Amino acid sequence: MTGVTVRVPAKLNLQLAVGPPRADGYHDLVTVFHAVSLFDEITAEPARRDGVSVSGEGADRVPADGDNLALRAVAALRAEVPSAPGVHITIAKRIPVAAGLAGGSGDAAAALVACNELWAGGFGPPQLAEIAARVGSDVAFSLLGGTAVGRGRGEQLTPALAPATQYHWVLAFADGHLSTPEVYAALDRQRARAGEQVPAGPELDPALMSALRSGDARLVGRALSNDLQPAALSLFPALRKTLAAGLELGALGALVSGSGPTCVFLAASADRALDLAASLSGAGVCRSVARASGPAPGAAIVSGAR
Ligand code: C5P
Repeated sequence: MTGVTVRVPAKLNLQLAVGPPRADGYHDLVTVFHAVSLFDEITAEPARRDGVSVSGEGADRVPADGDNLALRAVAALRAEVPSAPGVHITIAKRIPVAAGLAGGSGDAAAALVACNELWAGGFGPPQLAEIAARVGSDVAFSLLGGTAVGRGRGEQLTPALAPATQYHWVLAFADGHLSTPEVYAALDRQRARAGEQVPAGPELDPALMSALRSGDARLVGRALSNDLQPAALSLFPALRKTLAAGLELGALGALVSGSGPTCVFLAASADRALDLAASLSGAGVCRSVARASGPAPGAAIVSGAR
């Protein structure tokens, strides 16, 4: 086998409820992850030593050394397969970097799937999920895909039982980036300043879960929520305009994706998403727009399978 190519989706958080900071610096959260059809493609090939090259959307911002999340995933898998030879990872990016769409976590998940195949590691989904959780909070979800409830740091997953509704999203990419730790820190500061008592165990929103069970996009649009949004807006105030523009143009719901700065809008149909994307792009409130539908499948081999 010369190489294995894996496709991995971007993720949105339909709900992101954040608890107080923990002793280890992370926050307990309850989130509803939702994978959408915007994909990175990762190829793993045998090499003398481990390395990574990156092309596409925002490639110059992706570290090409040991800080690269895909290489960290390779190292985490190699700890379980000590005899594994070197590997070169090629990442073709379409998911923007530092955009709140789990692009880096997705690349890590894809690298795990690709190397597991290349090395004939034989690890099943539960074992890969455990290794994924060591690499980053969102990596296990990128393996799973679909729509799922995440707890703990986000790595404890339960697939959401929902009808096979496809939702049509418009993603507005910002002209700038946000650092996830900085957004969490800004939320902690905002809450401390407001003297807010944050319950230790954040809760799943029953309105969102019932909307997802009904498959009614209108109800889902109304129930979208993100505790990180005020913090992201404080660090990137221009996003307010982007969110307001999308709602004015008829989106069923709007929110900042994860720690931002990507804004996402739910449309009533594929046609409405097309209209909304064109209008948002003309409104000059973001760098560029993309359309995506969800739920999309998690990291999956597209070529080079045994
Ligand atoms: O796990 P990951 O490396 O993706 O997390 C990036 C950063 O986001 C963490 O270092 C932490 O600052 C923040 N984070 C958090 N609580 C979570 C997930 C992430 O505080 N549940």
